Amino acid sequence: MTSPKSKNIRVHESELHSEDRQRAHGHAGLTLWFTGLSGSGKSTLAYRLERLLTEHGVFAYVLDGDGVRHGLCRDLGFAPEDRRENIRRVGEVAGLFTDAGVVLLTAFISPYRSDRDAVRALLGDSFVEVHVAASLEVCESRDPKGLYQKARSGEIPAFTGVSAPYEEPESPEIRVDTGVLSIDQAAAEVMAWLEAKRELGLPGRR
Ligand code: ADX
Repeated sequence: MTSPKSKNIRVHESELHSEDRQRAHGHAGLTLWFTGLSGSGKSTLAYRLERLLTEHGVFAYVLDGDGVRHGLCRDLGFAPEDRRENIRRVGEVAGLFTDAGVVLLTAFISPYRSDRDAVRALLGDSFVEVHVAASLEVCESRDPKGLYQKARSGEIPAFTGVSAPYEEPESPEIRVDTGVLSIDQAAAEVMAWLEAKRELGLPGRR
């Protein structure tokens, strides 16, 4: 944790430990951090998993880039330092949700490796990086929001994959190629990963 601006701030300790919350919820908190190009299916996959996990009695919740940029991060644009601050704030929020015992699913492009690694450092073992690995060609041919077309015409500057970088994760815990897999298949792969980790107290099917 970094120091606050004011020296006159003391953190009040909770009367609970994470084990107490884990016992109350039946599972530990966790952040599934989806990263990938715009149009790769991060949000679709995260929302599908939120439903599946909820149906299995897991306390799951999605934080989505487009939504967060309407509120918490509405002052930020897409310059590298703005994206860094976006991911830093979301990382802090992810830490709070995870501590609260929620299985959080975040869907942000998060194109810079160093920004994602900073969140990993903050969350430790609770951080699970999921690379939603559809190629630029696939994402651009889908172009669900018409943004690639605008990026190619120059209407949107610094667009990830076109005029701004995307740094692929080198060793994500999970990689799903949504150019090949359907959303159902990709969701099943993530669920299978979670089930395999069940002995660690992570959520899985009941
Ligand atoms: S991030 O790079 O800071 O992680 P974030 O996930 O919050 O990005 O927001 C990405 C969404 O913003 C995209 O899905 C797209 O809808 C929209 N967007 C608008 N401008 C850009 C841009 N220049 N680059 C990427 N996405 C953009």
